[in-house]
Amino acid sequence: MAGARIGTHRSGGPALTLIMMQLHRSNTANHYLLRRARLEQILPLRTQVLFAMHGPRHAHFMGDDHPLTRHYAAVVTDATTVEAAVAAGADDPAGPDANEGDSIVACLTLLPAPFEGEPAWQMRGVAVHPQHRSQGLGRALVAFAEREIADRPEFKRIWCNAVASAVLFYEKMGWEVVDEAYLIKGVGSHFKLLRHRDGG
Ligand SMILES: CC(C)(COP(=O)(O)OP(=O)(O)OC[C@H]1O[C@@H](n2cnc3c(N)ncnc32)[C@H](O)[C@@H]1OP(=O)(O)O)[C@@H](O)C(=O)NCCC(=O)NCCS
Repeated sequence: MAGARIGTHRSGGPALTLIMMQLHRSNTANHYLLRRARLEQILPLRTQVLFAMHGPRHAHFMGDDHPLTRHYAAVVTDATTVEAAVAAGADDPAGPDANEGDSIVACLTLLPAPFEGEPAWQMRGVAVHPQHRSQGLGRALVAFAEREIADRPEFKRIWCNAVASAVLFYEKMGWEVVDEAYLIKGVGSHFKLLRHRDGG
């Protein structure tokens, strides 16, 4: 189910979007802030969802600390308006503890990584907490990140390596499989997918 977008805030810095979503078969609706995050904020969720078998040491990606790399998160929030979220400091990505009490339930990372020799982003570490899946949150966070990188038009494409079970998730958002499947031992088949950005 698609969430209702309540509003977006941008004050010269990174954008911030507040959405509301109702979990399937539940009367509870959550408010989620979609925003940039710091690596150390998203690592616990990335580790839990994607590297539970391997441990935190394996959850670091090459390029995680690159100056252009962007980490994104969906955060459950008490705020019901964008103004309230901003008043609570949510638009301050540099603020060390602005969101300490918030709970991050979805994350992804965009790293600069060329595709066919041209500047491109690689999307990695896409993870939604199991209790927050199947309501459109993963799609919302990917779409938010795609919009948020509009300030870097020279990166015309975004690509990712997806585990077979997640390929349909990407295809439903307009991504295309561009290569043969390849096997990662112990993890299973993977596919390379590509997303052209506007004009790309
Ligand atoms: C894959 C994942 C990120 C999807 O997150 P989500 O919030 O549950 O996805 P959404 O609710 O936004 O789904 C958007 C659409 O994709 C579909 N979809 C989501 N996950 C899917 C899956 N694994 N297989 C097929 N379709 C899927 C949904 O049905 C929905 O389709 P609709 O628009 O027709 O209703 C989440 O299941 C997850 O974290 N999985 C474990 C980690 C993982 O596999 N990450 C990807 C690594 S490449």
